Amino acid sequence: MAHDVIVIGTGPGGYVCAIRAAQLGLNVAVVEKRATYGGTCLNIGCIPSKALLHASELFEEAGHGFAHFGIDVPAPVLNLAQMMKHRQETVDSNVQGVAFLFKKNKITAYRGTGRILGAGKVEVTADDGSTQLVEAKSIVIATGSDVAQLPGVTIDEKTVVSSTGALELPAVPKKLVVIGAGVIGLELGSVWRRLGAEVTVVEFLDRILPGMDGEVAKQAQRLFARQGIEFKLATKVTGVETSAAGAVVSVEPVAGGDKETIAADIVLVATGRRPFTDGLGLEGAGVATERGRVVIDDRFQTGVPGIYAIGDVVRGPMLAHKGEDEGVACAEIIAGEHGHVNYDTIPAVVYTYPEIASVGRTEEELKAAGVSYKAGKFPFTANGRARANRTTEGFVKILADAATDRVLGVHIVGAGAGEMIHEGVVLMEFGGSSEDLGRTCHAHPTMSEAVKEAALAVLGRAIHM
Ligand code: FAD
Ligand code: NAI
Repeated sequence: MAHDVIVIGTGPGGYVCAIRAAQLGLNVAVVEKRATYGGTCLNIGCIPSKALLHASELFEEAGHGFAHFGIDVPAPVLNLAQMMKHRQETVDSNVQGVAFLFKKNKITAYRGTGRILGAGKVEVTADDGSTQLVEAKSIVIATGSDVAQLPGVTIDEKTVVSSTGALELPAVPKKLVVIGAGVIGLELGSVWRRLGAEVTVVEFLDRILPGMDGEVAKQAQRLFARQGIEFKLATKVTGVETSAAGAVVSVEPVAGGDKETIAADIVLVATGRRPFTDGLGLEGAGVATERGRVVIDDRFQTGVPGIYAIGDVVRGPMLAHKGEDEGVACAEIIAGEHGHVNYDTIPAVVYTYPEIASVGRTEEELKAAGVSYKAGKFPFTANGRARANRTTEGFVKILADAATDRVLGVHIVGAGAGEMIHEGVVLMEFGGSSEDLGRTCHAHPTMSEAVKEAALAVLGRAIHM
């Protein structure tokens, strides 16, 4: 065997798995069909979207946010080409970082599309059509996900775009219609609204951000609406017609009622992603899938001994950090160690302004499971640092077991929520209680004091409320 492990795909799941396996002394190879490493996340996902979210937030602040602080500046002028250059430079430095790490860890990289011929055998087809057989004791499938198509809507990446096209629009659309009020719709809808687009979000359900705590989602929707995003909830898209002039989106209420059309320059389809296994040869190799996802056991192994799978292509949330943790655990298992992922403490963050972050169970989930719980809430309006920063929107909500006080969920909507949530993650990882958190000293004045106060609120003894 040429290698101990071959990882197919170099997204956050695959590249982290390869590095961890190399750290453990294994002879590791990766196969990647893209020109650069890093997968969806680094090339067309997490990283470029956050580069644009940050830049567009600064643009908006420069336009509206400075005057109150006594900083009078002329109205900012958008240089979209420079903003896109920032996005691309951020991507480039990150994907080059992965290439550096592969070299540092002596990982062999094969360029091309991998196809599994059976246990231990991967055929790599290069762009010029030439093929090569690579053998390894273990194979890890980390081929990620791709945009889910919406029946009846053709994505041309010009007028009707997926997240990939929405990250590189050549001009600010006058009118953007977003289909889907999930994470991508809200993040990229926010980017283009801040840069001047009029944004309407059409959502099939009667709420935004399905899966997030209902109260948090409701508050976030109010804040986004105040920022100028229009929501059409419980509404379905029945078709999108394009012409040289743009697009016309046909919608109708899910419950039935009057049809309507919305004209737009650009339509963003953000209705989810599908696991990507095209051309991977799974059927021939005897690897089973269920609703597109590769079926694995709790050691990431498929039904075929020696073939593993991790990341977006398997069950669970499609999140980069979930894939990374699975990559580490899978590598450790392959090396004979005891890799483990705690799926109860995987945080989720929406990087809008304000940010929305969550770990553990929502109030709806606890109710459905019949768990008796206590809730503690603390608003940022009562936090000194939030007042100084003028970031008083939102709140922290903590849910704890009524009998044991063990924290079961933490949900935050507020500036910096994506950083603050890790208090909850670490606490829950260690099985901590709201009493533990409420008795932990927090630096003053910080936004994080609201997390401590929410824990005290669970116990009925918040100080500043
Ligand atoms: P991927 O990153 O999809 O990588 C799979 C790789 O496998 C790709 O490089 C692909 O080219 C390669 N590949 C596929 N088939 C083959 C083959 N046969 N041979 C060789 N190579 C192959 N998640 C977060 O946690 N935080 C965020 O902020 C965030 N933002 C996002 C923003 C957007 C716009 C999008 C689209 C996604 C975002 N995500 C975010 C989700 C995140 O990108 C994914 O969860 C993550 O990339 C999954 O990692 P992965 O390793 O499983 O697969
Ligand atoms: P999503 O699953 O988050 O949201 C899709 C939304 O579209 C849902 O609200 C759904 O109800 C709605 N929808 C589905 N079909 C519809 C239809 N026909 N008409 C109207 N609405 C419809 O998916 P999204 O936003 O595309 O993101 C894909 C994945 O990428 C997610 O799983 C997410 O985890 C990941 N991601 C994560 C980010 C983060 O962690 N910050 C950022 C961006 C993406």
